[in-house]
Amino acid sequence: MEENVGIMKKTVYSAVQPTGSLTIGNFVGAIRNWLRLQNEYDCYFAIADLHAITVRQEPAELRRRTLELAALYLACGIDPEKCALYVQSHVSAHAELCWILNTLTYVGEASRMTQFKDKSQKHADNINMGLMDYPVLMAADILLYQTDFVPVGADQKQHVELSRDLAERFNGRYGETFKVPEPLIVKGEARICSLQDPAKKMSKSDENPNASVFLSDDRDTVIRKFKRAVTDSDNRIVCSEEKPGISNLLNIYCAFSGHTMSEAEASFSGMGYGDFKLAVGEVVADVLAPIQAEQKRLLADKKYLTEVLQGGAERAFKTARRTLSKVCRKVGFYRE
Ligand code: TYM
Repeated sequence: MEENVGIMKKTVYSAVQPTGSLTIGNFVGAIRNWLRLQNEYDCYFAIADLHAITVRQEPAELRRRTLELAALYLACGIDPEKCALYVQSHVSAHAELCWILNTLTYVGEASRMTQFKDKSQKHADNINMGLMDYPVLMAADILLYQTDFVPVGADQKQHVELSRDLAERFNGRYGETFKVPEPLIVKGEARICSLQDPAKKMSKSDENPNASVFLSDDRDTVIRKFKRAVTDSDNRIVCSEEKPGISNLLNIYCAFSGHTMSEAEASFSGMGYGDFKLAVGEVVADVLAPIQAEQKRLLADKKYLTEVLQGGAERAFKTARRTLSKVCRKVGFYRE
């Protein structure tokens, strides 16, 4: 028994919301990194539909996007034999733990979260309790699985920090219960920026259709969007703070080609911006094409997708139930 403890795999947890079309930011900042992790860690990858409804969703569309996201995870190479791939609302323990963690979260700290402030501005007609509770539900997701590492983009760092605070607060009050998780954020890839305003992150919900490249965009659209990307007036292709547009394109190029920044800078040295942008568009389109084809193939096999999601939820439930019953005992809920 003692020996087993030493070889137990560490746990990784992450999720994406089934809202809007996923961008290459979601792909590079999150899903693609999961592929490297699934061979070494015990991985849970969820489709965060409970989070999605904090912003108004059309029910039929939410259902469709949930399946599309499942197919996309698989098409990107997530292996359901190695990971628990599941829909968050299929495991009720997430909402239950969220309620308990709510009682340890101060309204002040929740209202100070950057994403809450941003989304409240963006959805001023629907500042609901769920929007404010979003990071607490995320903490519940993470803590249920006794997670060691949370691979996310830089925009989610503050939320993972809240999960750490809540884990420590609960452990301090009720005794050792939760593992304290760490964010796993890959430098450079963690923030893919808008092609129209490189000071902003690339987002699913940008109102400018040229700002974001979606994983569903066809080759011509990808190339057209890169051609229109904002750059600057000098003609040097180098990564530097004074050149945010070019640096963003170089980052995207490296993320999709596997080249290092210095290799990329060397190979584009002396090239004009037009040719450079075409090269970035082509490398992105080359990576997306086989993923799109595989996603389409999988979406035609709904039975298989449903089986994968059921198997994933069963696997997730086993772990989640263990943590939740421990939590219920610790807080003093009566159990026979
Ligand atoms: P979502 O769907 O908004 O984003 C999914 C993932 O994509 C990353 N991301 C980016 N990375 C780099 N550049 C960008 N421009 C970019 N845009 C988005 C996000 O950081 C995220 O990793 N709240 C989470 C979903 C979630 C979750 C969790 C994550 C729910 N529960 C538990 C981890 C652990 C989110 O941001 O989803």
